[in-house]
Amino acid sequence: MAGNITFSMIKPDAVGKGYTGKILDRFISEGFKIKAMRYTRLCKCEAETFYAVHKGKDFYEPLVEFMTSGPVVALVLEKENAVADYRTMIGATSNPAEGTVRHQFAESTRLNAVHGSDSDENAQIEAGFFFAQRELL
Ligand code: CMP
Repeated sequence: MAGNITFSMIKPDAVGKGYTGKILDRFISEGFKIKAMRYTRLCKCEAETFYAVHKGKDFYEPLVEFMTSGPVVALVLEKENAVADYRTMIGATSNPAEGTVRHQFAESTRLNAVHGSDSDENAQIEAGFFFAQRELL
């Protein structure tokens, strides 16, 4: 059965361009409830750990550099079928469909405005990376 939370991050490109409010408004208007939210900045070690699954790929080092280049907004969002509905809303990493968050706000495959969990299991892991259990009650 699909879980009801997903982990989301507004990335340094979108935060730096002042899109945070517009992106949050889109999340809320599509029925996602903000369960936890933090404005923060990742250090190199944190970005490397968060994206460890991509270690060794050609885009890994530039991705870590990008993700540490400025502040991010980390979020846990709640909605029925959260992981799948969120991924539909943000669009694909490459060539996102018209109407999606990434189509509107992303600059490239790397500078793609937002992150979203790809499974219920990873939503739990990623939420736990940023938030203490007491912040997710
Ligand atoms: P995200 O959904 O956060 O997950 C991994 C990130 O790596 C992805 O968004 C992009 O920012 C980046 N990424 C994935 N594939 C590529 C690629 N082919 N080239 C550059 N960056 C990529």
